[in-house]
Amino acid sequence: MKQLHFSDDKKIKADYKNWVPKSLVKSLIFTSLVAFILFIALGVSDLVFSGRTRLICALIFGLATLILIFFASWIGLLHRTFDYKGKRKLAKGIIEGTADYVKIPDAGLGLDVGFGSGALTIACAKKNPKATMVGCDIWKGSYKTEFSKALCENNAKLEGIENVRFEEGNAVKLPFEDESFDAVTSNYVYHNITGRNKQKLLLETFRVLKKGGVFVIHDLMSKSRYGDMNKFMEKLKKDGYEDVQLIDTTKGLFMSHKESLFLGLSGSALLIGRK
Ligand SMILES: C[S@@+](CC[C@H](N)C(=O)[O-])C[C@H]1O[C@@H](n2cnc3c(N)ncnc32)[C@H](O)[C@@H]1O
Repeated sequence: MKQLHFSDDKKIKADYKNWVPKSLVKSLIFTSLVAFILFIALGVSDLVFSGRTRLICALIFGLATLILIFFASWIGLLHRTFDYKGKRKLAKGIIEGTADYVKIPDAGLGLDVGFGSGALTIACAKKNPKATMVGCDIWKGSYKTEFSKALCENNAKLEGIENVRFEEGNAVKLPFEDESFDAVTSNYVYHNITGRNKQKLLLETFRVLKKGGVFVIHDLMSKSRYGDMNKFMEKLKKDGYEDVQLIDTTKGLFMSHKESLFLGLSGSALLIGRK
């Protein structure tokens, strides 16, 4: 087996994957193809169905093909927009922009909830070289095939970052003691946790934050998902939290309003403050 030398190592770039997995794009293209083949087969042969039934089935598969092609194209476009190596590099911009707010004191400890491919954990570790970043994730659903602990550890190595650690942990009940971190952050995670009160998930994350530590949470914080965030922020302030702000990131900070609608990212916002 070929030995990797440091100079070779440097040429290999970290792979932060994509929030829209390639497997999803591929399976949509495959399903469109299957629907198209069935449409054609029913159109030219009456081997299985004949007469009116054949016509109705052909119409159904024709319509399904059109819908599937539309979805496959849209999902493919999302994949390209989020691509770390693509032209738009939206994911990279959001990660870097979120990490800019994460300030950890020297020798301090930061937490990234739901680290995925480790992009935000590593970005925060880079910006806070004298602190240590810990990431936790449960690698659920379609992310299970794309993201893994080994991938993140390799990404950190390729970026030359040593002040990171990746662990298994569920945002619903974090496996950490109260007030164990100097900063907590997360990007596009809580909206994935269906059937859970998002404000309670935030409070669970803030539980592990030390008094005086900063929180920087970016997610789809629309009212339908998160409830009344103004009331929530008032409650935080009453409980002693400081500098609490909700920043709409679809007004140019990370993307335009139009782009957020097209990409299904409307409601994107940064909740920042200090405990
Ligand atoms: C859209 S990805 C975002 C990944 C990463 N934060 C980023 O910005 O690249 C969502 C991540 O949330 C993780 N996740 C979903 N539910 C979770 C839970 N209950 N606890 C921890 N992580 C979770 C998924 O495994 C996935 O890695």
